[in-house]
Amino acid sequence: TELTHIRNFSIVAHIDHGKSTLADRLIQDTNTVADRDMKEQLLDSMDIERERGITIKANTVRLDYTADNGEHYVLNLIDTPGHVDFAYEVSRSMRAVEGSLLVVDSTQGVEAQTLANVYQAIDADHEIVPVLNKIDLPASDVDRVAEQIEDVIGIDASGAIQVSAKTGVGIHEVLESIVHHLPAPTGNPDAPLKAMLVDSWYDAYLGVIVLVRIMDGHLKKGDRIKFLSNGTTHHVDRIGVFRPAMQNIDVLGPGEIGFLTASIKQVRDTRVGDTITHEKKGTEDALPGFKPAQPVVFCGLFPVDSAEFEDLRDAIEKLALNDASFSYEMETSAALGFGFRCGFLGLLHLEVIRDRIEREYNIDLITTAPSVIYHIYMKDGEMIELHNPADMPDLSKVDHLEEPRIKATILVPDDYLGDVLKLCQDRRGIQLDLTYAGSRAMVVYDLPLNEVVFDFYDRLKSVTKGYASFDYQMTGYREDNLVKMQVLVNDEPVDALSTMVHRDRAEMRGRAMCEKLKDLIPRHMFKIPIQAAIGGKVIARETLSALRKDVTAKCYGGDATRKRKLLDKQKAGKKKMRQFGKVDIPQEAFISALKMD
Ligand code: GTP
Repeated sequence: TELTHIRNFSIVAHIDHGKSTLADRLIQDTNTVADRDMKEQLLDSMDIERERGITIKANTVRLDYTADNGEHYVLNLIDTPGHVDFAYEVSRSMRAVEGSLLVVDSTQGVEAQTLANVYQAIDADHEIVPVLNKIDLPASDVDRVAEQIEDVIGIDASGAIQVSAKTGVGIHEVLESIVHHLPAPTGNPDAPLKAMLVDSWYDAYLGVIVLVRIMDGHLKKGDRIKFLSNGTTHHVDRIGVFRPAMQNIDVLGPGEIGFLTASIKQVRDTRVGDTITHEKKGTEDALPGFKPAQPVVFCGLFPVDSAEFEDLRDAIEKLALNDASFSYEMETSAALGFGFRCGFLGLLHLEVIRDRIEREYNIDLITTAPSVIYHIYMKDGEMIELHNPADMPDLSKVDHLEEPRIKATILVPDDYLGDVLKLCQDRRGIQLDLTYAGSRAMVVYDLPLNEVVFDFYDRLKSVTKGYASFDYQMTGYREDNLVKMQVLVNDEPVDALSTMVHRDRAEMRGRAMCEKLKDLIPRHMFKIPIQAAIGGKVIARETLSALRKDVTAKCYGGDATRKRKLLDKQKAGKKKMRQFGKVDIPQEAFISALKMD
């Protein structure tokens, strides 16, 4: 296809503003998929995405569109992930296209993720077409939302298209606008091949599938290609496009987006943002800004049933094949036995992986306290990266500690502003900015990442009844007075509950944790002390009193079914518990105890 007749774009939106529904409509209206094959949310392929309504992997589709001017166009849509954990993937896919549709729910308005993603689009020099969605709903207020787009984002919204992705109103205008307002790609067909690796994933039949955007030159089946980041070479055995099903074609030229397969075994061998060229007479000039995604949140994953360790290893290895941003290494814990220390891009990423292991591989897991990476400066000048509080070195050798900080942007209706400020303050936040846009406030805070990883987002949602939106980026490391807090149950330290806390908050957190554990741990036949300690000094203590009676005692022996039910219930409860010394601790205690209310 000629460059002038190609348009490449992405859709930028906050979660639930209708990105997937709009994409489905565009596919349908260009007859890319026969109506009978059309199922909702075609682009969200994984079950878990469908269930959670979150788009995790970038997907893509090629649409053929005959415009009102009679010309035929090829429109390539790259679907980008909407969540903050995947910001790096968003930024890469943005660089593969020239324009964006900015979808804003006209009953809601601009949200934090709209902002974060639209700034990425602006950074990538995109032409942006605002789309006001859900105009079929009575609460739709297109004037207010258009004004807000101009005020908050600072782009012209006078040409905003009013759409209902649900009923199909305005979809034709969106297609015309893509053709007339978004620029065509540029590229040199005669230059050596230069292609961007936009995304990659594992397919059971084809091996690794690599999504590419051709910048210059041509990519053909049978070519020998080279990845510039690591110099590896491969033989291309298939190229094609997504409609959205895979369709093989012979050649991809400048400006085009498609896939290749080349008998690549692991997703790890392909890095998002890498430059692909020909092995011979290729370019040496890599695309700018390539960096591999780095995990920022770590936690331990252990099987509840230690006999399932090998199954867990298998599950983790399989998941890692398809997710280069997920890291793991084996870990042993005195209390939990064998497991893995895993690194994630953020909390959502952690939850998704944990859910998939539990659901797809049917393994019950104990997840230990998520931790960020601390920088520990030793007195001898060495710097150690601490991924696990359990590995904290001897304090006498430590000079100081630094923790990662983030810049958080929160948009919230005025009514809830006070609660949000209090929450941020409680989490050691430093206010950087506070502005108003209509009846909404935009607050920017500098926060320690470790105060955000457990439950900040949940708390924010709950204090604002779901009306706040949140986005963050890492800013750097800063020194603070941090200590490792240990928890002892029945005088045995439980490694999995060790956390790093700020010295000033240690007492409060320790007390709260002991109180919670007291409620979460069932009573035993003996008395159980629960303590929090810093470097051997106990800072909080609770005592769980001994159980006096058998649970079935009050059944008077007569009601056999009731008795059995009680015993069954006890047994079911047991399944998800782990023994620590003589004490059974239920699985949910590990996460619940760390949440701060
Ligand atoms: P993520 O994939 O989570 O980022 O969400 P999304 O932005 O893709 O949103 P999605 O398309 O899943 O839409 C969210 C919800 O809004 C769904 O329940 C849709 O059915 C609904 N929805 C989308 N567009 C419209 C619309 O124009 N009108 C109405 N009434 N509902 C819509």
